[in-house]
Amino acid sequence: MTTETNSEVGAALEHLREHQDRHLQELDEFLRIESVSADPAKAGEVKRAAQWIMRELTRIGFDQVTSHETSGHPIVTAEWLHAGPDRPTVLVYCHYDVQPADPLEEWVRPPFDPRHEDGRVYARGAGDDKGQVFIHLKAAEAWMVSAGRLPINLRIFFEGDEEVGSEPADEFIAAHPELLAADLCVVSDTGMQDDEGTPAITYGLRGIAYFEVRVSGPFQDLHSGGYGGAIANPATVLVELLAGLHDEHGRITIPGFYDRVRPLTDADRAASAAVPFDEDEFRELTGVPQLWSGEEGYTVAERISVRPTLDINGIWSGYAGEGAKTIIPASAIAKFSTRLVPDQDFHEIERLVVEHMRRIAPPGVGVEVRIIHGGAPALTELDHPGVAVAASALEAAFGKPPVFLRSGGSIPVVAALMAHVGLSSVLVGFASPNGNFHAPNEWMPIANLTGGMEAIVLLWGELGEMTADQLRTG
Ligand code: BES
Ligand code: MN
Repeated sequence: MTTETNSEVGAALEHLREHQDRHLQELDEFLRIESVSADPAKAGEVKRAAQWIMRELTRIGFDQVTSHETSGHPIVTAEWLHAGPDRPTVLVYCHYDVQPADPLEEWVRPPFDPRHEDGRVYARGAGDDKGQVFIHLKAAEAWMVSAGRLPINLRIFFEGDEEVGSEPADEFIAAHPELLAADLCVVSDTGMQDDEGTPAITYGLRGIAYFEVRVSGPFQDLHSGGYGGAIANPATVLVELLAGLHDEHGRITIPGFYDRVRPLTDADRAASAAVPFDEDEFRELTGVPQLWSGEEGYTVAERISVRPTLDINGIWSGYAGEGAKTIIPASAIAKFSTRLVPDQDFHEIERLVVEHMRRIAPPGVGVEVRIIHGGAPALTELDHPGVAVAASALEAAFGKPPVFLRSGGSIPVVAALMAHVGLSSVLVGFASPNGNFHAPNEWMPIANLTGGMEAIVLLWGELGEMTADQLRTG
């Protein structure tokens, strides 16, 4: 870094350290907003979170701070493009919506009343992903307050539908590529490698195809003594259908499902094996007596990141109250999803699943499959010049070089940005890998919040020393 940048970065880092306590209080204010995208009753709260971000962006000094109406929740964009045409332009993507908090009774602290304990912030969204939105706000603010400028041109793209499939964001990307034009997209919606401060760059994400299946039988619940034996029980049919989706080798039985799965190369397998992964710790953290044997021929680490999977996400039917009720339920419903890997196409998988369920539906019941949402898998290029810069900034902030991971999770916009805008993403995430994403008692290490802000301040500083051309082509 030039001495000028160096001293500006130093001042920005100093600003962060000086105001850490106030910043953490501001984060609490943001986390108190119940921006649950899946719950229509919370739409007002999701909007309030968008407005909260817009107020911050405006205060920091961004231009064109805009909330875009979508078929879902608002998308917030903003820009600061005064670093000059030779400097790189970076797009930052995060999501400000969160998963539902239930089951509420399992939270030791209330999900939307953040608590700071043992060096962690506990709240829904602390790690996934509002804490990381906040990291970017504070990194930009630190630059603007201490240097009066950003060292690069920055565009902001924050969405409120990520946890429900990002369809409005995909539409927005297709409709407004000009608002997203950049040399690199920086995505912060993933985790670090561990809780010992080892940073990570995620370069692979799985895609997803999500379904709801309904098996319907009689007009209404029936007495199981009077009708049992004569009527196909929808709950029995549903569990049989679902159980048949895996064979005895742990493979998914939907014809054609694996056709486009890119076989793992020796290098892929070596890369997966090189990332430290402790199966016993994994088992202890999840509380299961034994890990599932899963798809034969693959390690646990491979099965949770680079192989496709299918999981039932919810299932309900009949009587679930106190005591007993002897009925044949009128219907049974399940939600299930597949995680997809390159080069599976989620539209094709949707078609294959629907066809398969129709084909295997037994007589005597109705079987209906609804497609809920889908997203494409993504592999980001490790040879993009931005990756080396991100690695260097992470190492400077955390004192250790990052590991390179392929994650099992999904972030649909990453593939959409590549497809519609030709934009490469580098995924630098700061959550804890054990931070209870989507689960009760979600938490974020405070050290990762502060370290994340520092890493982004450094990253902007280092990118500001490059030309746009260098960032695009190396
Ligand atoms: N932050 C996660 C994605 C993630 C999870 C990355 C774990 C790395 C490790 C993201 O918010 C998420 O949960 N996405 C959903 C997407 C889906 C609803 C389309 C997911 O993966 O279930
Ligand atoms: Mn999530």
